[in-house]
Amino acid sequence: MEEHKRLADIVKETHVLLRAEYHQYGAEMAWERHLARNDVLQRYAISMQKLATKYWVNSNTDLRNGTFCRMEWIKAQCKEYFHNGGREKYDKRELDIIVKMTSSPENSHDESTTCENHSSHTENGLQNFYGRKISLLDVGSCYNPLSVDNAFDVTAIDLIPTIRVYQCDFLNITIGKEKILSRDMQKICQLPMSFFDSVVFSLLLEYLPCPKQRYICCRNAYDVLKDGGILIIVSPDSKHVGANARLMRSWRYTLSKMGFMRIKYEKLRHIHCLMFRKCVCKDVAIRWSKLHHFDEADKKYMSETKIFIPQDFQTVHSKNQEQEKLDEYEETDLASAFSELPFNNEASI
Ligand SMILES: C[S@@+](CC[C@H](N)C(=O)[O-])C[C@H]1O[C@@H](n2cnc3c(N)ncnc32)[C@H](O)[C@@H]1O
Repeated sequence: MEEHKRLADIVKETHVLLRAEYHQYGAEMAWERHLARNDVLQRYAISMQKLATKYWVNSNTDLRNGTFCRMEWIKAQCKEYFHNGGREKYDKRELDIIVKMTSSPENSHDESTTCENHSSHTENGLQNFYGRKISLLDVGSCYNPLSVDNAFDVTAIDLIPTIRVYQCDFLNITIGKEKILSRDMQKICQLPMSFFDSVVFSLLLEYLPCPKQRYICCRNAYDVLKDGGILIIVSPDSKHVGANARLMRSWRYTLSKMGFMRIKYEKLRHIHCLMFRKCVCKDVAIRWSKLHHFDEADKKYMSETKIFIPQDFQTVHSKNQEQEKLDEYEETDLASAFSELPFNNEASI
């Protein structure tokens, strides 16, 4: 068997096993069992790194946008936001919305109390930014692909430690005053609150089998981000932009309730790329969910504490059935290199 297919199988089998065990044992026990399989996690990390750096380099592109892989998108958007006026633009937009909200009679009382720090924060934050690196937390980094760029001060974390990647389960991490490392310096035991300019989830959310786990990761990202900081989510989907539009709306809804404003969304050929800003004033973010009209079909996918992906709405399969599906998938769906990703994109909402 060709090496890239063998590697893709290792990655896919890991996902299939975790998903099957989630249905069998529930989220917590499945996750515990998953973390205990050190050898599986090691093999996954090695395979994912080889696939991404050796086999997907040229095919991981969007033909409509030139050679634009996900890491390039992430770096470009961060630089645009922090170095090229993006942040100032959204600080101002936030202030404009606050003015609108406070001048509306029914809101004036609530909003004035929750938004009072906005102007002092934005002035201080902006003045201090120039000349320093963008602090970025790459969650599920695997092989630390973002560290090559000097504009960033990257903290890379994953379930097992590799070179330049700390061990840290972001789902169960403590968030406190400061960063705390283990004695051997390989593991992060605590992450600092309101510390990072940017948090990146590149192909992370689909790894987690349970909608509530995905929500917890987003909430933790909110806690470790500074006000005005950004969460970047890259999620695989080879379908056309409309196919999973309801799910994209539901993410926007859930994250808006949390205090994030979606400031950028692009559907590239095989991925959704999203950028959310942690609003200085939470009510500005929440406003979107209040103003937006959702139809009955939308509501099915919306929750304040869950992040859904297409796989959540597929029939549950046993381990054996999952294996059969995997074999079918292997035969029919290797047309594009990106479909070697372990996420079954057949379903759409
Ligand atoms: C599909 S890989 C993505 C690797 C890389 N970010 C990329 O875009 O190529 C997903 C990674 O997320 C990691 N991961 C999953 N859950 C995690 C968690 N709770 N905390 C930290 N890393 C996690 C997995 O171990 C895996 O390496």
